[in-house]
Amino acid sequence: MSVTVRFLRHDGSPARTVEAPAGERLLDVAQAADQPLEGTCEGQMACSTCHVIVAPEDFDRLPPASADEDDLLDLAAHVTRTSRLACQIWLDEGLGQLTVRIPPGAHDMQGR
Ligand code: FES
Repeated sequence: MSVTVRFLRHDGSPARTVEAPAGERLLDVAQAADQPLEGTCEGQMACSTCHVIVAPEDFDRLPPASADEDDLLDLAAHVTRTSRLACQIWLDEGLGQLTVRIPPGAHDMQGR
């Protein structure tokens, strides 16, 4: 089973669509697809540089964020009601597809 993940640029235009195996973490899928998410703390929930904006129609289909994730999102720039940390989203095979937007100002220290 795989999940179709659509990445949008900060302005909402399509950036990349990939098929990811179920069970993958969204942050890893995004980085493999050359999306500009630093993920500096590698999923330790200490940086918020993996912030993505989930499409409203997909947001409620994801398991809710933990209190720790919500606390960290409070510190991120350009947070919206459907913001999440990509390191805290695992692609469940029941998801089918997921659309996420990269927030304005996201950049990648590795220069990709
Ligand atoms: Fe640091 Fe997600 S990678 S909070």
